[in-house]
Amino acid sequence: MENPYVPIEAVIKDVIVENPIIKTFVLKPEEPLKFSPGQFIMLTVPGVGESPFTPSSSCFETERVEVTVLRQPGGKVTSALHGMKPGDMVGVRGPFGHGYPLERFKGNEVYVVGGGVGMAPMRALMLALLHEAEQYKRIILRYGARNPELRMYKELCKSWETDPRVDVVYTVDIADETWTHNVGVVTTIMKPEDIQDVKNAFSIGCGPPIMLRFMVPVLLKMGFAEEHMFFSLEKNMSCGMGLCGHCRIGNLYVCKDGADLSYDKIKDFPDVWA
Ligand SMILES: Cc1cc2nc3c(=O)[nH]c(=O)nc-3n(C[C@H](O)[C@H](O)[C@H](O)COP(=O)(O)OP(=O)(O)OC[C@H]3O[C@@H](n4cnc5c(N)ncnc54)[C@H](O)[C@@H]3O)c2cc1C
Ligand code: FES
Repeated sequence: MENPYVPIEAVIKDVIVENPIIKTFVLKPEEPLKFSPGQFIMLTVPGVGESPFTPSSSCFETERVEVTVLRQPGGKVTSALHGMKPGDMVGVRGPFGHGYPLERFKGNEVYVVGGGVGMAPMRALMLALLHEAEQYKRIILRYGARNPELRMYKELCKSWETDPRVDVVYTVDIADETWTHNVGVVTTIMKPEDIQDVKNAFSIGCGPPIMLRFMVPVLLKMGFAEEHMFFSLEKNMSCGMGLCGHCRIGNLYVCKDGADLSYDKIKDFPDVWA
């Protein structure tokens, strides 16, 4: 992309209703969009504004990129997006930031933990891991939602239940009569026995800040090394390129330095989960 401030056009090819507050938009950008899992794009709704979103689709498909969007109450961009339909145009800048360090994960157990709409980037990560599953010792997913209705990617998640390449456990905070999995917050399905070689294992977490905060002591108790614990921080962003300072924590710019941010790098900043 020549000028990083100028978006390219992307047409909405499909809109998938995940649940009453979350939709997945299938975009066809005017030129292929290469990204690594964990990187984000700035998406413009013409005449409304621009916001950051992390692709939720496979990074091996560059001509068709999906973003999964939670409609924020009163949110300008997310509400406008939720009103859009196939054929409408949006703008895309990016990708920005670093992806997760997949090369470091290779040969080891990878512990993926998603909560709420935070499962969106974790889907892109899972698809990348499963694309070359033989490179990883084990792939483990723990995914929590508020209730069964608010879960996303229901078909895909169902298929993973019987996929021998992945160890999955699902949970909801509040169950209904259809729910056959765990009930409780995400940390209730994170157990030391999930991991065989914790010293060398990597964890990646994405979800609401409160979930990430409560995950930390659980991961440490399980025995994960601080420098192997990665978190996606969703800080307020503007330029996406380390120039405006909107996303700064301490000496780090989340837009530029994330998502390759391990716990040892962020733990001393008091506003890290804010
Ligand atoms: C790197 C990054 C990746 C993201 N990826 C996704 C994604 O894949 N899917 C998705 O649904 N959302 C994602 N978000 C959050 C998304 O960018 C915001 O929800 C969006 O900018 C809100 O825009 P809006 O104009 O609708 O709301 P605004 O009008 O800007 O705000 C409406 C309300 O939403 C709150 N809000 C705005 N931004 C955030 C935020 N970052 N975190 C929590 N609350 C916020 C505001 O405080 C306000 O209460 C990501 C954020 C970042 C920084
Ligand atoms: S968004 Fe501008 S410095 Fe990060």
